Amino acid sequence: MIPDGRARPVRAWLVIASAVAFVLAVVGCPSAGRDDGLDVTKLPSDVQGDYAVFAQRCSKCHSLSRPLESGITEDAYWVAYVAKMRRQPGSGISRQDEVPILRFLHYYSAGQLTRDDAKEGGR
Ligand code: HEC
Repeated sequence: MIPDGRARPVRAWLVIASAVAFVLAVVGCPSAGRDDGLDVTKLPSDVQGDYAVFAQRCSKCHSLSRPLESGITEDAYWVAYVAKMRRQPGSGISRQDEVPILRFLHYYSAGQLTRDDAKEGGR
């Protein structure tokens, strides 16, 4: 039997633990729960890493559907857009990030992947 006095602190820890878990889920993984990205498991393994950089860098200020549904297919436009986005104040995008991001966007635009195939939930 647990005396009354001991039940309380245990419950308090549970509340704290779930609060921490919640904060980690929300803050630690900003793209969790968003349904506008692609299903990573449907991407070829060599593209997944590039996609991860893109998904992280390009979802900060707007949803990923912004670039994914922009209809842009020319590499030259992507180069210009990614540079423009990188120059936005506080973009968090470095010059090194441009390489994997552009590689992913080229892959995506080249139509090797149709949007509907990879849409999360197969919408
Ligand atoms: C610092 C914030 C920020 C980040 C990070 C960012 N963007 Fe944007 N992006 C914007 C803003 C603000 C707009 C809206 C500009 C406008 O409507 O004129 C925009 C618009 C866009 C558009 C739509 C342009 C149009 O004409 O409709 C595309 C495509 C785009 N971003 C791609 C990207 C890509 C790709 C990345 C990652 C490399 C990225 N963005 C990262 C701020 C950002």
